Amino acid sequence: MDVVVVGSCNIDLISYATHLPKEGETITGTKFSTGFGGKGANQCVTAGKLGAKVAMVSKVGNDAFGQDYLKNLQDCNVNCGQVKVVDDVSTGVAAITVADNGSNCIIIVPGANDLLTVSDVEAAEDLIKSSKVLVCQNEIPSVISLAAMKSASNHKVKVIYNPAPAQKDFNPELFSLPDFFCPNETEAELLTGCPVESIDDAMKACRDLTENHGCNSVIITMGKNGAVYQQRRGVDPLHIPVDAVAAVDTTGAGDSFIGSLAYFLATRPELPVPEMIKRASFIASVSVTKPGTQISYPRADELPAHIFS
Ligand SMILES: Nc1ncnc2c1ncn2[C@@H]1O[C@H](COP(=O)(O)OP(=O)(O)O)[C@@H](O)[C@H]1O
Ligand SMILES: *[C@@H]1O[C@H](CO)[C@@H](O)[C@H](O)[C@H]1NC(C)=O
Ligand SMILES: *[C@@H]1O[C@H](CO)[C@@H](O)[C@H](O)[C@H]1NC(C)=O
Repeated sequence: MDVVVVGSCNIDLISYATHLPKEGETITGTKFSTGFGGKGANQCVTAGKLGAKVAMVSKVGNDAFGQDYLKNLQDCNVNCGQVKVVDDVSTGVAAITVADNGSNCIIIVPGANDLLTVSDVEAAEDLIKSSKVLVCQNEIPSVISLAAMKSASNHKVKVIYNPAPAQKDFNPELFSLPDFFCPNETEAELLTGCPVESIDDAMKACRDLTENHGCNSVIITMGKNGAVYQQRRGVDPLHIPVDAVAAVDTTGAGDSFIGSLAYFLATRPELPVPEMIKRASFIASVSVTKPGTQISYPRADELPAHIFS
């Protein structure tokens, strides 16, 4: 395996309406769509669409959503040997309402994602140790991510950790175990307690994360401003810009970046990390020019050849 992701699968249920309903109000919407989401699966599918050999360690419910999700993963060439279907719980869902002016509200019900156990990670140990890169996020219990990261680092497998969505109760080992600690601006702000609004702020946040929290490499994604990278404590952070695009839907851009970074770390380990970040940012910028999440992620044959050179 190139990339293994221990993380979430969620079905997105998206209702569009002129405005968001108030408490007790029933309104008629204008459009409905479903999508495959969950940060873990998004990152896994990104790397798979680029051509990496990918596997997912996850749980879905024994319901129609779970069956749909398994089929989606198989269609995206994701190895599902460690995706378990569990009874008496729903597949993870995100019920999303989007108003005409773009404001939204979201309820995520983790369902089966919350039932991942340390023994599921133990059962996946052979898979993890045979992979080049492990990727974890925060949509499953943090003890599970920790167990997976420990297993990976025991076997010298590179670890990318995307601390998203942001969490306040943070086990300090989550800072020091990963090789690459990759928050966005919001998450970096919450974890460091300093505002992260500019490139300079992000550089300060990198220094705080490496000097005061024990992070190894830090990459902060900055939307249209690309990313800021600090290789390790004491080294100057670098700004790695991305070319402007006409953004249509930025949902899942961060996941596209993380999955692409995992792809390059696993398949092109000889590339300098700033070059991997530049290419991953480009791929994420392509994803924001199309609507949807996983369906907006480009396949290898839809990208220019220099991305793979
Ligand atoms: N408007 C944009 N123009 C170009 N690239 C973008 C844009 N928005 C996001 N990206 C790319 O996606 C990456 C992740 O986006 P970001 O907004 O930081 O993540 P998140 O989805 O976590 O908020 C960025 O580093 C950048 O490469
Ligand atoms: C959208 O409209 C609501 C009022 O219906 C308002 O509270 C909200 O701030 C608006 N959001 C944006 C992004 O304009
Ligand atoms: C960072 O990611 C979180 C999801 O984890 C999202 O809610 C937030 O809007 C993102 N921040 C920015 C600045 O894009």
